[in-house]
Amino acid sequence: MKAAVIKEYGAKVEVADVPKPKLLPDSVLIEVHASSVNPVDNMVRAGYLKEMLPIQFPFTMGYDVSGVVVEVGEQVTKFKIGDEVFSRPNSMQAGTIAEYALVKENELAIKPSNISHEEAASIPLVGLTAWQALVVKGNLQKGQKVLIHAGSGGVGTLAIQIAKHIGAEVATTTSADNINLVKKLGADKVIDYKTQKFEEVLSDYDLVFDMMGGETMEKSFKILKKGGCLVSIKGQDTKGLAAQYGVRFEAFFMWPSGEMLSQLAGLITKGVLKPIIDKIYSIEQTQEAYDYIQSGRAKGKLVISIKE
Ligand SMILES: NC(=O)c1ccc[n+]([C@@H]2O[C@H](COP(=O)([O-])OP(=O)(O)OC[C@H]3O[C@@H](n4cnc5c(N)ncnc54)[C@H](OP(=O)(O)O)[C@@H]3O)[C@@H](O)[C@H]2O)c1
Repeated sequence: MKAAVIKEYGAKVEVADVPKPKLLPDSVLIEVHASSVNPVDNMVRAGYLKEMLPIQFPFTMGYDVSGVVVEVGEQVTKFKIGDEVFSRPNSMQAGTIAEYALVKENELAIKPSNISHEEAASIPLVGLTAWQALVVKGNLQKGQKVLIHAGSGGVGTLAIQIAKHIGAEVATTTSADNINLVKKLGADKVIDYKTQKFEEVLSDYDLVFDMMGGETMEKSFKILKKGGCLVSIKGQDTKGLAAQYGVRFEAFFMWPSGEMLSQLAGLITKGVLKPIIDKIYSIEQTQEAYDYIQSGRAKGKLVISIKE
């Protein structure tokens, strides 16, 4: 089958012919219609995550998939051939920018029927991340105030919509070009991080969802009320700032979950959550998508269309 692979760390992505994944009893084989790229892919490609995520070459890229079930493992009970599904597979079974992908049953959900495979492929990794940060780790409640950094990115565009659905008051950071986008998604307050200092404008927040790390994360502690919470998917509180400010700190790496993805699918079906796609690429253009996401300027998601 055709797949977007790297043949060594640091190499550019190329399309190669690789063996189709072999069915496992707890998994389904998906004919992939679309996938998407994420900043973590470039970290894997560069070899930064060698210890955490050991890989073998040629390594097929991609952690998001939307497609159709074509084979079903003998232990699988909830899915059948022909089902339209989407997923963020676990890292050991990743490799979704390819004609076929193997996904465990408990990491799968039925794709919402009101969106395309391209739109569905833009959701799993970032949608699960936003949900886990705001709902599971941050325990965001109706009426609370939340700051979501980088509201115009893949994670941020979904996080704003989820926070508004919960009934929170949402502030977000972005730059001038993206102010209309984040306002359309429901942001109540928009801070242009190039001209304004969020830590001087915002105060008494219940929750900050940080995806920048570094100084941005450290300054974010200042805007929290006592007992508030900072959830980061990028940094660690190495200076003990949470204790100094009397707040809770949570850092995590997102995890696959078919059940949570089904909840997100429900919100998409109701029209509460909308996929935000910046650009769609062909599998041959995968490296271009990685160059663009590396720039840090993507507005929503970059999708790879595999089967029209
Ligand atoms: N731990 C985990 O499980 C996990 C999961 C998912 C993502 N992540 C990490 O979270 C980060 C965000 O992921 P993503 O997919 O959303 O990335 P992304 O789509 O590449 O984010 C791009 C967006 O970030 C905005 N941005 C860049 N610098 C900014 C700044 N200083 N302040 C505010 N906004 C800024 C850009 O807006 P402008 O063009 O206006 O600057 C752009 O729209 C990445 O570092 C990723 O690795 C971690």
